[in-house]
Amino acid sequence: MEAIRNIGDIRRTVTRLKKQGRTVGFVPTMGALHEGHLSLFRLAREQADEVVVSIYVNPRQFGPDEDFEDYPRQLEEDLALCEQEGITAVFAPTDEIMYPDRQFLRIEVDELNEHMDGGSRPGFFEGILLVVNKLFNIVRPDLAVFGQKDIQQFRILQQMVKEFNHEVELVMGPIKRANDGLALSSRNAYLSRDERKTAPGLYRALQYVRQQILGGVRKTSLLLDHQKTELEAKGFEIDYLQVFSFEEIAPVKEIKPASKYILAGAVYLGETRLIDNIIVET
Ligand code: PAJ
Repeated sequence: MEAIRNIGDIRRTVTRLKKQGRTVGFVPTMGALHEGHLSLFRLAREQADEVVVSIYVNPRQFGPDEDFEDYPRQLEEDLALCEQEGITAVFAPTDEIMYPDRQFLRIEVDELNEHMDGGSRPGFFEGILLVVNKLFNIVRPDLAVFGQKDIQQFRILQQMVKEFNHEVELVMGPIKRANDGLALSSRNAYLSRDERKTAPGLYRALQYVRQQILGGVRKTSLLLDHQKTELEAKGFEIDYLQVFSFEEIAPVKEIKPASKYILAGAVYLGETRLIDNIIVET
């Protein structure tokens, strides 16, 4: 496995692979790899001949009060995991390589950014679009895999590929969970023992809402209010718990037949922000 810092080197590696007739799958990450990331590597492996992973904690997608400094960094361990998984090359650039000069341009996201995490984290998706746009231009993969865990990220990137004509196919990997249902996340490392015990409550609340919707409940506001109260009683602070339309990522008040929705929640347990979602088709 090659561990590569420089843009020129990763470009040469991918060009060589493509010349050999190999297809290249790409999985961008911020490292602190867990089974969720590894499941995406395996999915990429099923659909492409070679898999390239990037590991880069992108400063542009963290707000001034967010956890950029504290975000877990463990490059050596991550590289060992990638090696075990049979990854062809890991691109792990420095900030100087990714953002060497003052930038005069930025990308803006329109309506898709108003709700869900876009509503709570100003600048977050602009930072993600910027870095993934750069990474796609650097790696030039045939396909790229992203997790359902960050479903708004997936929707916005889908739109970026379409509107900016990136020549890459996007694939969505399902959410990997711990045995008790908690969605795996690099940020779970911040949870205290007690918080970790409480944490699966978010997924349980989402599952309950799904059951009710599939059972015929059409107006969800009372249901959601009740679940929020229950979560608060358990010690969660709610950022949002909401039903969103799949295409527009806009909150919906009434469920309609033959439609696709995202039930999504973001909560705080202490300082730690957790997100989770379920896709529901009526
Ligand atoms: P990161 O949080 O490291 O996640 C990398 C990829 O792993 C994302 O596509 C994310 O959705 C996926 N992922 C995270 N937890 C998962 C789980 N439990 N099951 C399945 N997949 C999971 O998302 C980012 O990094 C960054 O925003 C990035 C796209 C790399 C741009 O900086």
